[in-house]
Amino acid sequence: MRIVATNPDQTQAVGKKLAALLQPGDLILLAGDLGAGKTTFTKGLALGLGIKRNIKSPTFTLIREYKEGRLPLYHMDVYRLEDGGAEDLGLEEYFNGDGVSVVEWASFIPEELPAEYLEIRLNKDETDDNKRYIDFNAQGKHYEKLVAKLAE
Ligand SMILES: Nc1ncnc2c1ncn2[C@@H]1O[C@H](COP(=O)(O)OP(=O)(O)OP(=O)(O)O)[C@@H](O)[C@H]1O
Ligand SMILES: [Mg+2]
Repeated sequence: MRIVATNPDQTQAVGKKLAALLQPGDLILLAGDLGAGKTTFTKGLALGLGIKRNIKSPTFTLIREYKEGRLPLYHMDVYRLEDGGAEDLGLEEYFNGDGVSVVEWASFIPEELPAEYLEIRLNKDETDDNKRYIDFNAQGKHYEKLVAKLAE
């Protein structure tokens, strides 16, 4: 499935809609270039979970936890782990926990990922600076159903 967003608010709105469908233990991988909108998407997702605190990019902290929403949100950015070190983060505990895990740059930690997840790829338009193509790639039945519900 592909959704086209023509401004940051629309990208956030998609994240917000997805949030309403999420369950404990769900894993969302956000792919796309620098500045594609991964953190922007996560802001909308957090709003949808009822998190009112401002979401900051976890580029330097790697993981930020938000526990005040409908479900805990574990927001990760593993960009800095391109050269390894992910095994020390204890990601499995987050992935198997009661919250929702959102991972930016998960392509840098292929060995840490479970078999099932929802990958969402944000692609910039070549000419329109504010346009993004948001592509959904579900791995596993659970996430296929999730995308089907989102499409409704
Ligand atoms: N349709 C859009 N959706 C999302 N962001 C957009 C859109 N149009 C413009 N932008 C802008 O693009 C930038 C996206 O930044 P953001 O931090 O979300 O990207 P990112 O993918 O998380 O980058 P990084 O890889 O550095 O973490 C923001 O400045 C945002 O305002
Ligand atoms: Mg980001």
